[in-house]
Amino acid sequence: MTATAPVPAAVAAPARRRPPDNRLLSVEDLVVRFRTHEGAVHAVNGVSFELERGEALGLVGESGCGKSVTNLAIMRLLPKPAGRIEGGRVVFDGIDLVTLSEADMRDLRGKEIAMIFQDPMTSLNPVLTIEEQMVETIRAHRKASRAEARKRAIELLVMVGIPRPETRLKSYPHQFSGGMRQRVMIAMALALEPKLMIADEPTTALDVTIQAQVLELLRDLAEDRDTSLILITHDLGVVAGMTQRISVMYAGYIVETATTAELFENPSHPYTVGLLHSIPRLDEERAEALLPIEGTPPDQRRAPRGCPFAPRCAWRLEECWTDNPPLAPIDGSGRVITTGPDATHRIACHNPPTAEEAIAGRPLREGFVAAPPPDAVIQELVTRGAEEEPALLDEVVLMGPEGPESTAPSAGGLPIEPDDKP
Ligand SMILES: Nc1ncnc2c1ncn2[C@@H]1O[C@H](COP(=O)(O)OP(=O)(O)OP(=O)(O)O)[C@@H](O)[C@H]1O
Ligand code: SF4
Ligand SMILES: [Mg+2]
Repeated sequence: MTATAPVPAAVAAPARRRPPDNRLLSVEDLVVRFRTHEGAVHAVNGVSFELERGEALGLVGESGCGKSVTNLAIMRLLPKPAGRIEGGRVVFDGIDLVTLSEADMRDLRGKEIAMIFQDPMTSLNPVLTIEEQMVETIRAHRKASRAEARKRAIELLVMVGIPRPETRLKSYPHQFSGGMRQRVMIAMALALEPKLMIADEPTTALDVTIQAQVLELLRDLAEDRDTSLILITHDLGVVAGMTQRISVMYAGYIVETATTAELFENPSHPYTVGLLHSIPRLDEERAEALLPIEGTPPDQRRAPRGCPFAPRCAWRLEECWTDNPPLAPIDGSGRVITTGPDATHRIACHNPPTAEEAIAGRPLREGFVAAPPPDAVIQELVTRGAEEEPALLDEVVLMGPEGPESTAPSAGGLPIEPDDKP
């Protein structure tokens, strides 16, 4: 009797402990820092979210809020050696990705999780034809002859709407338009039939009509194949028709999460309210002009203290400067559903806007004034010096000890000079 040869550790499938429900991904309290010459950048500060099989989640927020870093951490593609996962777990289909070996992770990337980036030129090889790249990708992950892989490549190009695919396979990436290159990228991602696709600003470089076409294509293909999707964008308008749920990020935190319909109907965090007032809504006749959120996101080289949105928030209370609230259900209940159509609407806020205030974009309470920073916070900023924190110091000076001079209808609530109004 011949004994079965033990499977070498390097090729043994990673141990999976599949959750009993439909969950595909659990990100638990993820912390990512970058070590730089100027100190640690607090890029992601304890982010948790979950995703079901076939579910589409939008990750939204201004530039620098940690959307890409969160997803690069999931993919274990953080720039080395500066970027490090310093806490938390990422469990994908029963496997803990944070502790997975590099070899297993490489195998999983592409095969089970695919990422589509903003600029396809960074992911496509400019000196190889589309055929060479697609055939190579397909054959790297599944047993197929060159002819079978070529046939599959043609099917995929048809699926993403590339005309004359046999001819186009011979082209180099630069011979495609931006929209067509993005379609090729989607075809390459689909080639591997991943369980999860992460699309990071996949259409930002494209014009608006092409943007809509590529996004719809991505959504339909994901739906047809029961593929989960994380769509990253700074534009709430983009995720409206594309996702079932949305998580809004600010300064490395999730500050609001809800089903897409609920988030648009009942935005409850001052930052989300600000974002909604800064984008055109097709479903509403808006009398007022669009209002950008005043101020800028915090410098993430500073360790988080208090609510990160406090300097820009018209609803802030004194405690907001020193106490960062956790993400909690808006109805105050303890029961939390993290995925699916019944997902609990949660926010991280001490003083949420009322429904009327969300519509107005500013506090309507009689005599309410956003709390000025307490002396300790001013002192800390002054000590650190205007050079290091010019933006924050400016805001403090602008507000003066009495707080904002006016609460103009922006989520920032900071004074807007009449000339600056759009
Ligand atoms: N290689 C790096 N070194 C140092 N800091 C970094 C690095 N990459 C990202 N960061 C910092 O991490 C934070 C989060 O960045 P991230 O790229 O995730 O933002 P984002 O939400 O994707 O923004 P955008 O919409 O501009 O793509 C930012 O403060 C950024 O400056
Ligand atoms: S009210 Fe306070 S906790 Fe809520 S967003 Fe504003 S500053 Fe942050
Ligand atoms: Mg990004």
